[in-house]
Formats: sequence, structure tokens, C-alpha cells
Amino acid sequence: MAADVARRPRIEVLADEAVVGARVADLIAEAVQRRPHLVLGLASGSTPGPAYRELIRRASAGRLDMSRTTVFLLDEYVGLPHDHPGSYHATIRRELTDAVGIPDDAVHGPDVHGGDAAASCRAYEAAIEAAGGIDVQLLGIGRNGHIAFNEPGTPFEATTHVATLTETTRRDNARFFDSIDDVPSCALTQGPATILRARRLLLVATGAAKGPAVAAALEGPISPDCPASIVRRHPDAVAVLDAEVARQLGRDTLRSVSTDR
Ligand code: GLP
Repeated sequence: MAADVARRPRIEVLADEAVVGARVADLIAEAVQRRPHLVLGLASGSTPGPAYRELIRRASAGRLDMSRTTVFLLDEYVGLPHDHPGSYHATIRRELTDAVGIPDDAVHGPDVHGGDAAASCRAYEAAIEAAGGIDVQLLGIGRNGHIAFNEPGTPFEATTHVATLTETTRRDNARFFDSIDDVPSCALTQGPATILRARRLLLVATGAAKGPAVAAALEGPISPDCPASIVRRHPDAVAVLDAEVARQLGRDTLRSVSTDR
């Protein structure tokens, strides 16, 4: 059992973020082709951008039909108006779903506008369950090892909950706002337990700055101190990394890596 856990996730190393994006788009497109009513969990941030742009190219060329896909966001800021360009709902519509023909009512996020956050969190869990669960969950990783907005220390048992963002995370995300003062300090986020229930996880990381967090996730203890380490508890997780990240991983980790693309 220990050996089995140790070899998760499957790791793929590709040259750069463009090739990583094409590979992630392949994995999503294959899943959509197998199951047109795919339930897809999506991450925001810069990392998925190349994959989203590739999916848009394929859909625009008539090579991919995502019109029956349902989307669940990983997380959403608290305190932004619904149409604020920095909100994750607006971001995903702008960066993917509008352009690939996924209707707005098939794009779900935690409701951050109701007065009762705990009720919103429960409703989000129920909505995911009612959709049949998430088939494929895309994950980025923060420099401190966070996934979605699960900051270090979040219990692995947590489901969708209110998260307080660390200063590191707020600073890292300030580029999407006019100033750091505009970055919300709270979000509703799928919890580690929610993420672990998805049928497949795709962890994507590119750029040298993500190397230490990925090394901690794949080589350090499986612990809430590094929320992304939970991917090693998942039976079907794939980590798609670029060479700059992989350079910071140990030889043992890279032994079984696939680089043949
Ligand atoms: C945010 C998001 C995460 C994302 C992370 C990394 O905090 N909540 O879902 O993975 O940033 O973002 P980036 O890909 O821009 O580095």
C-alpha cells in the first residue's frame, strides 16, 4: 500500500507552458469526447490559460463540442460584485466557457452573494452531488502549496467552506486587480475533501516559481501543511509539469516520468 501511494500521481513532464497547455487540453478534450455531458471542475489563475486557449481553438475549428459540459468552479472571492472582472465566474466565462459554447447556466460557482455563507457552502456540495459528481478536476497550485483557496493548515476533511486568504496568496493574485487593497481577503472554496471526490485530478504547474511547492506536494509529507499533497491520496491523479518545475524535483520522483510527447 505504501508503495502504491508513493507512485501517485502519474507525472508528465513537458518542455514549456505551451506544450503543457496542449496536453491538458488533450486530456480534457478526450474526456469530453468520451462523455459529452462531462462535469468539469475548473481552476482560475494564469496556469490554465494556455489549455483554455487551446480548447477554444479546437472548439472554434469545429473539432471539439463542449456545449453539453457542466462546469463547477473551484472557488470564488467573497465581496466582489457578480460582474466584477476579477471574480472567478467572470474570469472563466471570459477565458473559456463563453467561447466554447458552454451556457452560463451550466457554469456553477459557490454563491458568495447570499447572506448565509454556511448555507451557500452546503448548497454547493449538494449541487455537485446532484450533477453526479465532478468527473475531471483541473488544479493549479499556489507558491505556498495551496489548491483552490485551501491554504496551508486546512484540514483534509474540509468540504466547501469560507477561507481566509494568506498575504502571500493575496499578493500573488493582486495582478488581477488594480491594487492589492482590492484583493478580497475571503473566498468560498471547495475543500480538500470535495476535491478528492472528483473522479480524476489534473494538477498543472509551470514556471520555476512553482518548483518548491510542487516538490513539497510530491515529495514531502502528505499533510495539510501542503494542501496540494492530497493529490497523492487520489487513485487517478495526473501532474502535468513543465521542465522548469521538474528541474526542482528529485531523481526518484522523476524515475517513472513520461516525457514522450
Ligand atoms: C489562486 C486560485 C487557485 C490557483 C492559484 C495559482 O489562488 N484560487 O485555484 O491555482 O491561484 O494561480 P496561478 O495559476 O495564477 O499561479
